[in-house]
Amino acid sequence: MTFNVTADAYARFMGRYSEPLAVQFAELAHMRPGHRALDVGCGPGGLTAQLVERLGADAVTAIDPSDPFVAAIRARFPEVDVRPGVAEHLPFPDDSFDLALAQLVVHFMTDPVSGLQEMARVTRPGGLVAACVWDHAGGGGPLATFWRAVHDMDPRARGEAELAGAREGHLAELCEAAGLKHIEPTSLTVKVRFTTFADWWEPFTLGVGPAGAYVTQLDEARRDVLRTRCAQLLPPAPFEVAASAWCVRARA
Ligand SMILES: C[S@@+](CC[C@H](N)C(=O)[O-])C[C@H]1O[C@@H](n2cnc3c(N)ncnc32)[C@H](O)[C@@H]1O
Repeated sequence: MTFNVTADAYARFMGRYSEPLAVQFAELAHMRPGHRALDVGCGPGGLTAQLVERLGADAVTAIDPSDPFVAAIRARFPEVDVRPGVAEHLPFPDDSFDLALAQLVVHFMTDPVSGLQEMARVTRPGGLVAACVWDHAGGGGPLATFWRAVHDMDPRARGEAELAGAREGHLAELCEAAGLKHIEPTSLTVKVRFTTFADWWEPFTLGVGPAGAYVTQLDEARRDVLRTRCAQLLPPAPFEVAASAWCVRARA
């Protein structure tokens, strides 16, 4: 389980991308005061914070299978209803929410179609179901340089390109298979600035997600080879990384 890490490690590795993405993703949801929202795969709360800001803590529910993330988000937002659990088995009655969002989660679901079906079930008819996944397949995601360096060193490494929703159009296909209606695909892009190479590299050593898991199982020599290759592929510091995510908005 690659999300059994501290909220701080997540913030350093992925939060720097997912927090600005959450601002744009929340905008896309066109939520209004009075709406009840569910954040599926909330992590330590990057998107939850946006929902709380727009709707108030009482109107927000969040769920995630990672114990450290559930503990962190409960400490951060004591008034938000936070549950441990997975998208595929949401512990809520039908039609409980006006919107259900999953930011950077569908590709980690064991069964993405049933996860999206569950999101639709707990959303009232006509309510919004939305999801986004980094463009890992098209090389537009935040980890593109990392996986390119890995594949230069180890062409058989799996990477994240084949995960659900990571290629153009696949999120919409999954939504269609889940029976969602009025499916609208789009994409979002964020830019993150790094002042030094170490600022970019160190978070990969914290064991977060598939990339972190890949680095932590390398011996020191292989890790050095990978770090050197990444440094060769990146521009000289300071530099900016643009990260794009495939998104879909649909109706339950
Ligand atoms: C990349 S993080 C995204 C966290 C947060 N939404 C964000 O944008 O920062 C992926 C999250 O999905 C959670 N996750 C993994 N499998 C899941 C599943 N089947 N259902 C719901 N969440 C899941 C992980 O625990 C992790 O918190």
